Amino acid sequence: MDNLVALAKRRGFIFQSSEIYGGFNGFFDYGPLGAELKKNIRDCWWSDMVRRRDDVVGIETSIIMHPKVWEASGHVAGFTDPLVDCKVSKQRYRADQLFFAAVIVDGKTAGYVSVLESEKTAAELQAAAENFKRKKAIQGTLAPIVAKDMTEAQPDEIALIPSPATGEPGSLTPPRSFNMMFQTNVGAMTDGSSIAYLRPETAQGMFVDFKNVVDTGRVKLPFGIAQIGKSFRNEITPRNFIFRSREFEQMEMEYFIHEDADWAKCHEEWIAWCEGWLKSIGLPDSHLSRYTHPKEKLAFYSRGTVDIMFKYPFGVQELWGIAARGSYDLTQHANASGKPQEIFDEASKKKFVPHVIEPAVGVDRIFLAVLCAGYAEEDVKDEKGNSEKRTVLRLSPRIAPVKVAVLPLLKNKEQLVGRAQALYKKLQRRYAVFYDEAGAIGRRYRRQDEVGTPWCVTIDFDTIEKPGDTFTLRERDSMSQRRITEAELFALLEEHVY
Ligand code: GAP
Repeated sequence: MDNLVALAKRRGFIFQSSEIYGGFNGFFDYGPLGAELKKNIRDCWWSDMVRRRDDVVGIETSIIMHPKVWEASGHVAGFTDPLVDCKVSKQRYRADQLFFAAVIVDGKTAGYVSVLESEKTAAELQAAAENFKRKKAIQGTLAPIVAKDMTEAQPDEIALIPSPATGEPGSLTPPRSFNMMFQTNVGAMTDGSSIAYLRPETAQGMFVDFKNVVDTGRVKLPFGIAQIGKSFRNEITPRNFIFRSREFEQMEMEYFIHEDADWAKCHEEWIAWCEGWLKSIGLPDSHLSRYTHPKEKLAFYSRGTVDIMFKYPFGVQELWGIAARGSYDLTQHANASGKPQEIFDEASKKKFVPHVIEPAVGVDRIFLAVLCAGYAEEDVKDEKGNSEKRTVLRLSPRIAPVKVAVLPLLKNKEQLVGRAQALYKKLQRRYAVFYDEAGAIGRRYRRQDEVGTPWCVTIDFDTIEKPGDTFTLRERDSMSQRRITEAELFALLEEHVY
């Protein structure tokens, strides 16, 4: 992960937000290559989800909506995380990420230990318990620890659990609900009447505009409304680079179905679609899995949720949530606004509120997943047969920020440069391409490997001296080289970049 973060900075994919002021926790900037990669992820999703389907339309709604939207949706009351404060260090923790265990020696509780959630929570608690016993010179047999998180702490235990910041008990507060929506004020007044929220999900835009789309969009059930846009959550513990941030981008689609439709079947179809789409942009099957939310832990709006999980270097984590939201949202908005959110069914001559299947994914999480899956350090041989390390980003041509690098073999040979420039200009009309004439050719290949460019074309002496006007095509993954004509190059791009 450290190497990946270093590469992302070094090659201009991702910077800390406001870095010259020390950064701003939970916010990130995308540099020149990052902006291209992110745009490609969005564009692929939009093409496949909206343009290439006859049953989905796209919209773009405002980030700040009427505050009543968030009351009706349940976010004002229910979009909360349990929070624990350390009164001494002023640190805040998500209660479900702060784990503790009683240190039980010969059947008696000698004290408590705590750690922050990680891949090794149980092992770390066990080690902390052994350390506690040793430090306090307690004799006897330590019982195996039972890890619990702070939402499970009994009132009389809280004062005895040490704060991870100080290592001492007595400073942690009981968990309390913390609303994750960012508040702002709209208009000149800054009193309670002007409070508004930055949206914590794009989904509500689709629900609130449901009738507008039905009345204007010539849509018929089942159909979807999709949107890509920024969402904001005041996460208590933003972490793992861009995995959990406070400002992020979502790609969400609300698929409206008949109230009597087989929602479980439709749910499954969308899960499979999402898995297929992730593979189409290069994520390997081996890194993907499913997690079905247990009924008792479902979000307040959901009747069934399956997450597509991705194996990140810091653990298997949620990438894409596919929720069956029933008619919850439209019903809530109908009740709160007094405007019915029904659809007329020709077959039954009945009005009803459609049900919804919602695939919701974060662009930034996909971005991180493709970097993690694509990043490799390899031992290879240079032109002279010497071993060297190469860093390579195996990005799918669909999303790679640069599709082709055009390289004249020598920069001081006018004919080579002229032919390379002509090819570069022609490619540039359709594709993101890069021109590089600086340095040894092997080094130029390496630079492109590191940013995930699938192909390099070298304009060499055979191009200008031999018939056929061919170039050397060098492939990133195999590092193999072959000769190719301009027409073949365009055909190759046409096949892989879509
Ligand atoms: N409309 C439903 C919804 O927003 P969610 O599971 O809270 O559901 C959907 O979010 C997706 O948005 C997640 O699967 C994840 O990919 C992304 N996401 C959520 N919170 C995020 C955060 N703080 N940082 C980055 N991505 C986030």
